[in-house]
Amino acid sequence: MSKTFAVIGDPINHSLSPNIHSAAFRELNLDCSYIAYRIPKGELNEGIDALKKIKIDGFNVTIPHKVEMMKYLDKIDESCSVIGAVNTVTNNAGILKGFNTDMDGFLEPFWKRKIKVQGTKVLLLGAGGAARAIVAGLAKENAEKLTIVNRTLEKANNLRLFANKIGLDSNSIHIKNLGDDLEDYDIIVNATSIGLQNEPSPVNFKSIKPKTIVYDIVYMPMNTDFLKKAKEKGATIIYGYEMLLGQATRAFEIWHGIEAPYNAMKKALLGGV
Ligand code: ATR
Repeated sequence: MSKTFAVIGDPINHSLSPNIHSAAFRELNLDCSYIAYRIPKGELNEGIDALKKIKIDGFNVTIPHKVEMMKYLDKIDESCSVIGAVNTVTNNAGILKGFNTDMDGFLEPFWKRKIKVQGTKVLLLGAGGAARAIVAGLAKENAEKLTIVNRTLEKANNLRLFANKIGLDSNSIHIKNLGDDLEDYDIIVNATSIGLQNEPSPVNFKSIKPKTIVYDIVYMPMNTDFLKKAKEKGATIIYGYEMLLGQATRAFEIWHGIEAPYNAMKKALLGGV
């Protein structure tokens, strides 16, 4: 029987998820469709009812519903309860179960490259929703030490408390006080939205360790100024689209129970970036 999936959020018209998942259905000849469904803030309840009515098989959740969606779940996977936000839902005869695939999506590029996160010192820029999933991922992989940098110090402090609670030794500083010397870090991640509008890099890579991993979660544009500057310094680069693809392939595997066609999904994604 034909299956239907969706991504819900607002705005939703630029979402790349319909393209990525549709490419996977084509590649594997699955009788499935995937739609983008705009649900404005404050209308999640009615939106979920509508999805249940059409017997949606599963859906992704994006801004602004990732946290509020938790209330509508009947079952909660551990990935979801740790982070306190949901981005993937299964619907089993009206029983909604929530997962968060952002954490594994963040980690996947490390696994693919066989780069160990364990024992590393990490600098994380940003303290929003995406940064929280990243902190959970770093804790899961036993990073040694985390420094959280943010424009709003209070948010960095809150995220530090979360990191410490889940066993990741961390400290927080204001972005103004970061300085130029980044030689202490093995991994530097941009989890702010800086770069989306082609803004200049939030950090100056004056001195970094050779072989530093520099990871941007901004995927559009693909080559942000942050990554360009890091590349000039010889850093190993991880692109934002890799995390997007990682969370999508993981969601695919939760829904379909088979390995996701990574390359077909990557091709669809890069065609859209
Ligand atoms: P997401 O869900 O993508 O993480 P978010 O929760 O809105 O989005 O978080 C955005 C992050 O980018 C925050 O860390 C934000 O900093 P503040 O906490 O100070 O708001 C950061 N950010 C966005 N624009 C920024 C800018 N121009 N300069 C510095 N930080 C910025």
